[in-house]
Amino acid sequence: MKKLILAFFAAASLAACKKSTTETPQQVEGLIKLSNKVSNTPYSPTNPLLKDANTDFEIGAAINEGKFGNALYTGLASSQYNSITAENQMKFANIQASQNVFTYGTNVTNFAKNNGINRVHGHAIMWYSGVPAWVTNAGGSATGETRKQIYRSILYNHINKVFSFYYTQKDANGNPLVKSWDVVNEAFNDDGTYRSNATNVWARELGAYDAIRLAFLYARQIADGLGDTNLKLFYNDYGHEYSNAKTDAIYNLVNTLKVITSNNKPIIDGVGLQMHTSNTRTVTGNTNSIYYGISKMSATGLLVHISELDIKLNGGTVADQDYRWYNIPKIYRDLVPSARRWGITLWNIGDSDNWQGTAAAATLYAPTTYAKKSAYTNFYKGLNE
Ligand code: G3I
Repeated sequence: MKKLILAFFAAASLAACKKSTTETPQQVEGLIKLSNKVSNTPYSPTNPLLKDANTDFEIGAAINEGKFGNALYTGLASSQYNSITAENQMKFANIQASQNVFTYGTNVTNFAKNNGINRVHGHAIMWYSGVPAWVTNAGGSATGETRKQIYRSILYNHINKVFSFYYTQKDANGNPLVKSWDVVNEAFNDDGTYRSNATNVWARELGAYDAIRLAFLYARQIADGLGDTNLKLFYNDYGHEYSNAKTDAIYNLVNTLKVITSNNKPIIDGVGLQMHTSNTRTVTGNTNSIYYGISKMSATGLLVHISELDIKLNGGTVADQDYRWYNIPKIYRDLVPSARRWGITLWNIGDSDNWQGTAAAATLYAPTTYAKKSAYTNFYKGLNE
């Protein structure tokens, strides 16, 4: 049977390579015959809580405290999801805009606690974007090892302060509320090379690979030192679904990191595919496709998180979008064994809230009214069927 499925996949891959984005839903459904566990709560229009669609893994949302005045927004955020990511509030630039002045955002962690949501995913520690000017300039005229030490200290101090603070935030069971962190975000270009020293201060000062290795090493050491021994540490990036070169580079990086240990424990636990995608991205096949990206990340043997999902309308039709809303969770369930599914997190709540603007129509809910779109039904079924 397995051989039959593989042969079928190979044939479908060849076909997909030839015609890129034109698969029909029927072709993909034939390809992805799910064998793994499905929900106890089949879809019905009156019973559509995303978090109940498939109890094998968490369904999350990134939320933004600036939207908390809208009851439609908070109503959905508090009821539909069992994992929360702060869209911006826990980023380096938001927490330590000035050197050694730490502003720990708690709107989002408090929202989770107040609404019985027991998991917050931390986002993000080391990122090339949004680095405060004081970090960029901290090296001054120092050179060599002295200069490197300045940047190592900044990195260590930030992780230490941030992990220590959030460790004080507990869920309803008295466990740490923040269960995971994106320790490094977006270190690669789309062609699989590291971002250049000109665009990434961490690479410039510590070396592209060494900066990443140190971030994970410090994160593991600090978390374990606090007693936060279940904290899961992720490498997070985008573009797996359209660049094999980038996917392969990430695969090689995390395979290198996963054999580095601190106190006999790997310094990395998981990999996040952001999946800011669109209705024109190829779904199946082994070339620059959603299928390839997820399968390669699953092949790392680590936890796999679809961490920032949205599907932009980029020309084309809503049916093309819905087809991807349905198939992304199906492919995820098919390729990632249930014990390694960290879940699927959507990037903000409705079309009025998504970073790409209302016209992108990239979420599950209509602008302003927050009415469920056909995207919602398709996503639910992809989680559930
Ligand atoms: O809140 C201020 C507001 O007071 C001010 O008037 C306004 C003027 O520009 O800016 C507002 O802040 C903006 C914030 O979004 C509001 O939500 C920031 O300028 C803007 O930079 C910030 O953009 C965020 C972006 O990351 C940069 O940090 C987006 O919301 C957020 O969705 C986006 O998220 C990233 C992930 O972290 C990593 N992966 C890609 C993803 C999408 O770009």
